[in-house]
Amino acid sequence: MNKLEALKQLEIDITADKSLPLREANLVFGEGNINSPVLFIGEAPGLNEDRLKRPFVGRGGQLLNKAIVSIGWKREDVYITNIVKRRPPNNRDPLPEEIVAYEPYLKRQIEILDPKIIVTLGRFAMNHFIIAAKISRDQGKIFRMGNRPLMPIYHPAAALRSTSVLKEFNKSFKKLARIVKKAELAH
Ligand code: URA
Repeated sequence: MNKLEALKQLEIDITADKSLPLREANLVFGEGNINSPVLFIGEAPGLNEDRLKRPFVGRGGQLLNKAIVSIGWKREDVYITNIVKRRPPNNRDPLPEEIVAYEPYLKRQIEILDPKIIVTLGRFAMNHFIIAAKISRDQGKIFRMGNRPLMPIYHPAAALRSTSVLKEFNKSFKKLARIVKKAELAH
């Protein structure tokens, strides 16, 4: 099975899994270049994402797109998904059991995509991989997940609410671009 087929199968498997929570919402599986060296992982879909079945398409998504373009990339060049693949009601934070329920699927998605670097957006995605990390202290730093680098960055929605967070958010994207370029990960 090639990468695309494996991802398609995974999507079929998630859709068929009746044990998953939040099944009243649409599945937002993820999208982008399946051969991207960079995988962005957010928290969970919101209202717009649920409607369009695409990740990061609201205001936060627009800021994410802008940050991606600001470092000379295009949104279609990267792959974007979330730790929880269906919208929690009223945009509440995902519950620990919801994160746990979707975890095997995220793990498999990462295995299939096999990115060179993972970028988590916001504290939920960050803490999923690095339990003790603190977003204000650790965003923009490089951690390792197995033998893969992982960089937490602020959530774009947080960057929309605060100019100081926005500054750090943009700074981290510049750093990400340097790292990817230096490691000759860019295509
Ligand atoms: N926030 C997220 O974490 N993910 C989305 O897809 C949209 C908003």
